[in-house]
Amino acid sequence: MEYLIAGNWKMNGSVAFAQELAANLAAKNKAGAPRAAVLLCPQAPLLSLVAGICAGSGIAVGAQDCHTADKGAHTGDIAAGLIAELGCSYVIVGHSERRADHGETDAAVRAKAEAALRAGLTPIICVGETDAEREKGQTSEVIARQVKGSVPQAATGGNCVIAYEPVWAIGTGKTATVADIAPVHTQIHGLFGESGRIGAGLRVLYGGSVKGSNAATILACAGVGGALVGGASLDPEDFWKIVGACP
Ligand code: PGA
Repeated sequence: MEYLIAGNWKMNGSVAFAQELAANLAAKNKAGAPRAAVLLCPQAPLLSLVAGICAGSGIAVGAQDCHTADKGAHTGDIAAGLIAELGCSYVIVGHSERRADHGETDAAVRAKAEAALRAGLTPIICVGETDAEREKGQTSEVIARQVKGSVPQAATGGNCVIAYEPVWAIGTGKTATVADIAPVHTQIHGLFGESGRIGAGLRVLYGGSVKGSNAATILACAGVGGALVGGASLDPEDFWKIVGACP
């Protein structure tokens, strides 16, 4: 299975910044044989621009969120169908920053993932425990609840991606060790298969302070199928090191 390295630009980047970063990465992707599938997830108003720049380069583009409904009276929200129409193929749903900032529940995340599937997008469904939950030894319980609650029944290894992002490792510089990462990835693969879904080919990404210097160790962990990269995805050289670190 090909690894997936996804850059989550979050709420960063002007038009000029996005243009330069996307063009740089598109050129890199075209020039060599990349060791992974590459995905860029800019802010919604930049999707069209970035999709246009990446067209023909092999780099995929995705959004950072979508609404649960296909259309309607939801001011400020974004329809999955429109994301697809703009040339995107992925959408991140249930990122811990959205769960925290917007009170998104597992049920809402699952409905968003279902909307993504209806639109022909691949949802990247994020799960992960907080520092407090980890301290209390609740990691596997939280992961089981989030996977069961957030992943649609119609999800398969071929149409969806799961990202394990321990909240305490996001943007903190604290990287989870192989001993933290491998058991959770194994658990997620197991939970997915247990539910009767077709689990073959399921990519489970790791996210949380992944950078060029730690990527090789993380990507070599059992059950890890790629990375969801925040901060380091804004630096083309470091992001490309992560792509090159895929086994
Ligand atoms: P980070 O973010 O790489 O900056 O820790 C990862 C993410 O939130 O997806």
